[in-house]
Order: sequence, then structure tokens, then C-alpha cells
Amino acid sequence: MTLVTALTALTALTACTAGRGAVVGTPGAAGVRDPYFPRLGNGGYDVTHYDLSIGTDAAAEQLSGTAVITARATQDLSAFNLDLAGLEVRSATVEGRPAAVNRAGRELTLRPDAAVADRLREGRTFRTVVRYAGRPRTVTDADGSDEGWLRNAHGAVALGEPTGSMSWFPGNHHPGDKASYDIRVTVPEGRSAVSNGELASRRTEGGRTTFHWRVREPMASYLATVAIGRYTVRRTVTREGLPVVTAVDPGSAGASARVLARIPEMLAWGEKRFGPYPFSSAGAIVGRPGDAEYALETQNRPFLPGPPDPVLLVHELAHQWFGDSVTPASWRDMWLNEGFATYAEWLWEEDHGGATVRESFDEAYADRSNWAFPPSRPPGAADLSRPPVYGRGAMVVHRIREEMDDDEAFFALVRGWLGAHRHGNASTADFTAYAQKSAGVDLTEVWDSWLDGGSRPVRG
Ligand code: TRP
Ligand code: ZN
Repeated sequence: MTLVTALTALTALTACTAGRGAVVGTPGAAGVRDPYFPRLGNGGYDVTHYDLSIGTDAAAEQLSGTAVITARATQDLSAFNLDLAGLEVRSATVEGRPAAVNRAGRELTLRPDAAVADRLREGRTFRTVVRYAGRPRTVTDADGSDEGWLRNAHGAVALGEPTGSMSWFPGNHHPGDKASYDIRVTVPEGRSAVSNGELASRRTEGGRTTFHWRVREPMASYLATVAIGRYTVRRTVTREGLPVVTAVDPGSAGASARVLARIPEMLAWGEKRFGPYPFSSAGAIVGRPGDAEYALETQNRPFLPGPPDPVLLVHELAHQWFGDSVTPASWRDMWLNEGFATYAEWLWEEDHGGATVRESFDEAYADRSNWAFPPSRPPGAADLSRPPVYGRGAMVVHRIREEMDDDEAFFALVRGWLGAHRHGNASTADFTAYAQKSAGVDLTEVWDSWLDGGSRPVRG
């Protein structure tokens, strides 16, 4: 055999085996190189939909789940990863065929059967089913706060910022991969399970109730939640017909009724400044003090650990625009969430007889804790929720407004920004480029001194 014929034969052989389903492609990356959490998320595919079915006992101590993950390959894949913390994988299939599963800490590697290799070629959509069970864990954050599956006296609540969602379902847990969701939660009859989106159905059978929540708009996994307990669930609609679902722990009912009744007013206020509310429903979940140490802007329905102050509720509702609809491209862009949500507090207070925006700015400026680092560059993962991200972030927003010296144009810029990235992801560089293009004035000093600069700029 000549070399040429040998090569031809070899090529034919490869093509032929590939045709019969030999493994082609390469493994997807085990992380997407987030500056703070390099192993968070996974490369090689893009999730389009999660269909989660989980069940728990009355104490929400034991969980069993099935995650059906629909994803599009972004490369020819021979294997790919999912993030999952704790819990035990019972089985996994890809395109209906058993997949080999390897576990290394929080990284699950799935190696699909060779017979379905063609269905994992770049651009193709494939389905993965993971069955799992166990005692879900709490993830302790770099700053020492608890997230993930948080048990309490009456059930549990799942909070995912920044890395907690991997404690209750396997997935691509980086904010850059948003997807729609179906979330079905089965609990003993008498408990309720509240999640994101809209309630599609609720069925009781054999002493267990399944709540099926559907999230139509794309959601980052850190914004997924489920709250299990004895909640009082109420549904109303705004004047525009938007469903507002509140779930309140009975112990917090009295103290939160008045503030929750203001959600439609707060949303209408938000729409005037930030443009159309981005989701198909709104609401809130109110636990009881001790359920968690902080509030979180879980999509559609922020979680509040106890009866909220109106300003805190406004902050979390503002996140529906800033963070939930327009989501950070990486955790470095966190100030785009918190700076704007804090600025929304300032605006609300000014409009409701409190401090003026100018006074809030001056107070933030005088507060030394806001100057520990530039908001565009928190030094480490433990700094993501520290004051510069919030207070100095809000100062950046206000400095843009001051430079523009035209409120109408400034709010048009904010609405334009949100419209341009609605249901997507955006980075700090996207923001500064957009703002600079739309502002009509030079914003270099705002970026250099307020957003990126090391020390407190002198107030001009
Ligand atoms: N994003 C939440 C808020 O502003 C606060 C928060 C909760 C947080 N957990 C976090 C911020 C983890 C950063 C990291 O209401
Ligand atoms: Zn916030």
C-alpha cells in the first residue's frame, strides 16, 4: 500500500467510525474564567432551558431531583461539565443514552455515549437528564455569608448569589448563561413551594403537592429560588394586568402587609424612570427574621428575610431591571447591579419626602467605607458585596447625570441601556461604551476618577 492509499484508507476509516458515532470533538471547559470564580460555569455549551423537578420532606432536609437540561453545543463536544455542590448523582443520560459521570468536587463531567456523538456537534441542541438526591448543603461565601440551600424552622429557602444555586440543581452556574426554566417542587401537603415566574399548576396527590412554576424570560441561575414552608400566597394584578404574587410567612404577615401592598406603586414608579418592567410577573417572598441574613433580588419575586423597609423593597425591585433583566457578564460587573439599585433607593427617597439625591450622594461621598477600592475592580470574591460596589457605584451613576446636566437625556440613556441589553448580559466595558456614545458629553473623568480610580476624587 502506498502512503497515499494508506492515508486515504485511514481517512475513510475515521470518517466511517465518526459516521457510526465515534466520539468527536473535545471536552468543554470546566469553567468560564470568571475573575472571581474561575471554575464557575462551564464551556462548550449554552443552556436554553432547565426543567427541574425536586421533591423534599417536610423539614426540607432531604432533596431528590431530576434536572432536564436542554443546551446548544458551542463546539463539537466529547464531554462537558455541570456544576453541582454536594448531593449524589444517581444517573445521567445525554440524548436518552446513559452517560458516564465523573465527579471531582463541584465539577461533574458527563461523557456522552459514542452513539449520540453526532448530536453534540457545534450548533446542535441536546438534552441531558441528571437524577440526583441527598441532603442539600449550605455554601459559605467568600465573605462568610451563607447561601445555597438554607434550612429554617419552617422549611428552606434557596438563595444563589453568587454561587449557591449549585447546591440544589446541576447546571451551568455562571451568570453569563441565562435560560428559561420550569421548576416543579413537590412537598408534603400543607406546605407551599414558591419559586420564580408564574404558577402553571398545583396538584395534590397522595398527600403531596406539586407546585409547577414557569419562568419564560431568561434567568441567570443565581436568581433562581425556591422557598418551602407555610407561606400565605396571594395573587393580585396591577392596573396594567401584571400578576403580583406575594408569599409571606405568617409570622411576618402583619408587619409586611402595608409595604407589600405598595409593590404595584413601586413598579409603576420604576417604569417611569427605567422603562417597561421586564418580566411576566412580580411579587415578593417574605420569610421570617433568621431565615437568611440578607435580601436577594430573586427573579420576579425578591426574597426578603423579614418584613422589609420600603427602601429595601425598592432596591430589590429595581434589581429586576438592573441585574435580573440586564445581567452582569461576569462577577466583576457587580456594581452595575448594586450601583443602580442603590441609585434607585436615592431616587425613591427623594421622590417620597426623604433625603435628596444630592444629600445621599454627599453622605456616600463622606463615608470612608465607600472608598476602599474602585467599584469596577473589587480586590477579591469577599469584596463583591462591600460598600464601594453599592455606594460608590451609585456615585458613578450620579456623576454621569451631573456631567450630562440634562435629566431627561440622562434617564433616556438609562432606559436605552436597559433596552439594549434586555434579557441579556453586559459588562462594565459595554456600559461605559454605551454611556459615552449616548451622553453627548465627555465622561472620561467619570470613568477614570469615580469608576476606576484608586482614591477619593476631589469633588468638582
Ligand atoms: N444582591 C443582594 C442585594 O443587594 C445582596 C447580596 C446577597 C449579595 N448575597 C450576596 C451581594 C452575595 C453579593 C454577593 O440585595
Ligand atoms: Zn442589591
